[in-house]
Amino acid sequence: MANSVLVLGLQWGDEGKGKIVDLLTEQASLVVRFQGGHNAGHTLVIGDETTILHLIPSGVLHEGVVCVIGNGVVLSPDALADEISMLEKRGVPVADRLRISGACPLILPLHTALDQAREKAAGKNAIGTTGRGIGPAYQDKVARRALRVQDLFNLERFDEKLATLFAHHEGNLKRYDIETDDLDTLKKRARDYAKLLAPYVCDVPGLIEEHRRAGNRILFEGAQGTLLDVDHGTYPYVTSSNTVAGSACSGSGCGPNAIEYVLGIVKAYTTRVGEGPFPTELFDKNGEELAERGHEFGATTGRARRCGWFDAVAIKRACLLNGVTGMCLTKLDVMDTLEKLQICTAYELDGQTIDHPPIGADDLARCTPVYEEMPGWQSNTAGCTSIDELPAAAVAYVRRLEELVGMSAHIISTGPERNQNVIDVHPFS
Ligand code: GDP
Ligand code: IMO
Ligand code: MG
Repeated sequence: MANSVLVLGLQWGDEGKGKIVDLLTEQASLVVRFQGGHNAGHTLVIGDETTILHLIPSGVLHEGVVCVIGNGVVLSPDALADEISMLEKRGVPVADRLRISGACPLILPLHTALDQAREKAAGKNAIGTTGRGIGPAYQDKVARRALRVQDLFNLERFDEKLATLFAHHEGNLKRYDIETDDLDTLKKRARDYAKLLAPYVCDVPGLIEEHRRAGNRILFEGAQGTLLDVDHGTYPYVTSSNTVAGSACSGSGCGPNAIEYVLGIVKAYTTRVGEGPFPTELFDKNGEELAERGHEFGATTGRARRCGWFDAVAIKRACLLNGVTGMCLTKLDVMDTLEKLQICTAYELDGQTIDHPPIGADDLARCTPVYEEMPGWQSNTAGCTSIDELPAAAVAYVRRLEELVGMSAHIISTGPERNQNVIDVHPFS
């Protein structure tokens, strides 16, 4: 029996992690975010109410659960304030449920402005970031000049560190002609940030250990996806954090034995937002149909998501990188109308057939997919909750994906709502 489950994406994000975290939270007492920031957009659909969370863990709608933002998350106090107020307006008692690590690096308005200005200046070489300041904030963290949540509680030192940070960025702010909060405005704002954050700050590693010792169930919630990992993804078209399973420990403050089950969330097809190579991308009516039926628009930026066929080469590698225990296949219902389906089983590169992704974006961009065709089921799977309800061709498609990836689908998601799932193995069982 697993007492701790890590939920993460196996593709380029937006696999449906939020929905599944919300579902599994029914059985958990602690839900922990450990990397990324408000570049994430996790959608929860409960009845006729849709909630999109960017920073606060997707377990927050459940009573009696503690949601934690771990040290690996880059935290924008402005984004947090907006999210808290959105939830409080809906009657969610955030103060009772949220805890934040003092070691989270802050995303300040200058990081957001720098991210956007750099993207603009990069022209055709832009990454297609979410423009939320994620990259610049992680840069400051690694360079050891970041301001962290804890710094807000010693405002004299905060002001000194802020002046050093501003001095460091002065050249770039001038170079890109960036207008952002000046030093004095930000010093004043820091007083508000301190008031906002003070009630939430706690010793996160200690809290996780406490729950572990009590035998409580813990859920770790990844953001983005494996193919966006800064080391293992399609570099440089990636995010600025490690999105793979190993990051859950360093980004929250626990050891690897604190994670007993890794649930890899994967769409039954593929999507990507932003720039970068995408071997199975579709430019035809099948792609349009997936985009339309799957409502493939970014939950954070509203940008159209690029759509393509399932890529078994990438997913097999993603399972290996994360030590996946079982997969959760989402959005099967979106494929209900397609006549024929393709699955990418290998790549061709320079006349050779390869069964693993090459390193980096340049070689991946030169890969052509090798496809295997399967018939579509052209009947309804939306809302199915048992395998017997699924048409035979849909089951055959799922079984073939499992075979090619070498991993079982423990859950199949058949709609955006919390209870639209076929659950074969429950991760907490
Ligand atoms: P996340 O970032 O991984 O949490 O995923 P997003 O919330 O950005 O995007 C997933 C989208 O698909 C959301 O709009 C979900 O409501 C929706 N969704 C999740 N699972 C399913 C499913 O099985 N079927 C359908 N049709 N929609 C789903
Ligand atoms: P969730 O958690 C999909 C993508 C951006 C861009 C690249 C770098 O909802 O799955 P960044 O702003 O992080 O520097 O952008 O990463 N990206 C995501 N794509 N889902 C996400 O989060 C993403 N977060 C970042 O589109 O290509
Ligand atoms: Mg998303």
